[in-house]
Amino acid sequence: MAREQWGICGEANLHGLHLFFNAHDGYEPVIREALSQLPIILEEINEQFSEAMFSGVIAIGSSFWDELYPDKKPEELRPFPAIHHEDRHMPAVPVDLYVQLRSDRQDVNYIACRRLMSLFGEMIELIEQVPCFRYLDGRDLTGFVDGTENPKGRKRRDVALVKEGTFAGGSYVHVQRYRHNLARWEQVPTEDQELIIGRTKIDDIEMSKEEMPETAHVKRANVKDEDGNGLELMRQSMPYGNVSTQGLLFVSYCANATNFERILHNMVFGTDEGNYDHLLDYTTAETGAAFFAPSIDFLTSQGNID
Ligand code: HEM
Repeated sequence: MAREQWGICGEANLHGLHLFFNAHDGYEPVIREALSQLPIILEEINEQFSEAMFSGVIAIGSSFWDELYPDKKPEELRPFPAIHHEDRHMPAVPVDLYVQLRSDRQDVNYIACRRLMSLFGEMIELIEQVPCFRYLDGRDLTGFVDGTENPKGRKRRDVALVKEGTFAGGSYVHVQRYRHNLARWEQVPTEDQELIIGRTKIDDIEMSKEEMPETAHVKRANVKDEDGNGLELMRQSMPYGNVSTQGLLFVSYCANATNFERILHNMVFGTDEGNYDHLLDYTTAETGAAFFAPSIDFLTSQGNID
């Protein structure tokens, strides 16, 4: 199979730098060429700082894809499914390019970011940058371990990567920046926080069927298809924050776009009245965007300025 971009299935890192860009009109051929060179540049950085476990992913938004690669489009690449229901909002922000830079060294991410900016120059405009960090033993800022039920080993590639066709080795990406209301969350007693998440806080154990409320995040995020198989995602979310604003940069990779869409829908609407994911009472999605991260082979094959 075509080689995937390394950061899709990689293990968690200490530091992340997530960049969101729009492209200026008319530069498509030059951007295609730059994108074809990017995997080599990222690989060079990885080799130069091998102990840093560096990886990068670049992904392309739906409408920009049509301009960049008009001949062929991944079947399920479509705009982020914005949802507005009661006081729960999942906004969509149009973005052309998403870059995930991760490593165990913040300076290496910075070096990668500078290399990227000099490669793309004035062709693209930065919309947002979100520096992220590992918090304690892989916890979200709510204090709960995030990522426990992620697929492991070989299963990561099964869940995250398209299997066949032109886009094999590619992945559908969804990114949302959630802002937590930690002042509110911290007033909730630990036992009630555990009921909101559906796992214990300190030792990260899933609640039994009997204990698990319908409104728990784990319950709402556990969606099954028509054959009873769980819909899985390869989540690569990381906390971000400073003195004034904190939260989670949610990032998921998947072999299809529907798993994310169905899980998000189930979190916002639930099954019955009031049965939504109660984690959403303590965090607000401020952005949302959908992308496709093509395989390294696809990116490099699309160079050649015409
Ligand atoms: C602020 C936003 C979010 C926070 C803080 C959060 C946190 C967590 C935590 C603590 C867990 C339990 C441990 C684990 O298995 O990772 C979890 C599980 C999970 N989350 Fe989230 N999450 C958020 C948003 C989302 C979104 C937007 C989705 C997908 C649309 C999602 C999908 C999942 C899935 C699939 C699981 C595994 C459920 C299972 O046990 O089968 N999460 N999340």
